[in-house]
Amino acid sequence: MSEIVLLASIISLILLVSAPSLKAFMTGAPILYSPVRAAEEALVFARARPGEKFIDLGMGNGRTLVVASDKFGLDVGGYELSPIIFWIAKINLRFRKIRSARLYLKNFYDQDLSQNDIIFCFLTPHAMDKLKIKFEKELKPGTRVISYAFRIKEWRALEVLDCGLPGKIFIYKI
Ligand SMILES: C[S@@+](CC[C@H](N)C(=O)[O-])C[C@H]1O[C@@H](n2cnc3c(N)ncnc32)[C@H](O)[C@@H]1O
Repeated sequence: MSEIVLLASIISLILLVSAPSLKAFMTGAPILYSPVRAAEEALVFARARPGEKFIDLGMGNGRTLVVASDKFGLDVGGYELSPIIFWIAKINLRFRKIRSARLYLKNFYDQDLSQNDIIFCFLTPHAMDKLKIKFEKELKPGTRVISYAFRIKEWRALEVLDCGLPGKIFIYKI
């Protein structure tokens, strides 16, 4: 009997941890990391100014936040749906002593994005289609949207950077 309870507990724990990761995979993007240079180049061309609010939608291990904070002095934040990846990001940011980072274990589709100045995405074309509608409703004029690898359909990019990385970088301004 106790073995059955133990097995059921282990299965429940696995489901609890893996379900959000599966949802992230299905609705946003799989866990892949953008090259560090993508955020560096994009933030130069987006004319990032110290103190501006930067958010990564699906922050992964938090690498773009480290660049945005350390190299550009931005006020950084990120959303992540997968709990294991979220904790990796949290440890990464703590290790880099970026204590003010706003990190949320939440679905970015359900969040109010209107207070951000710069939004970074490395998602999928489908996710960008969904976000486009949200961006058009919510973002204030002047907000820059950076999309690594995938363009936003029907939007005219401020810059398209081809820096020799596997993907192009699309920069938009609302
Ligand atoms: C391709 S990775 C990009 C990671 C990071 N932004 C980078 O550039 O290195 C996409 C991340 O988004 C997360 N994600 C996907 N859908 C999400 C959602 N709806 N809400 C929050 N995070 C999501 C995934 O778990 C994954 O870690």
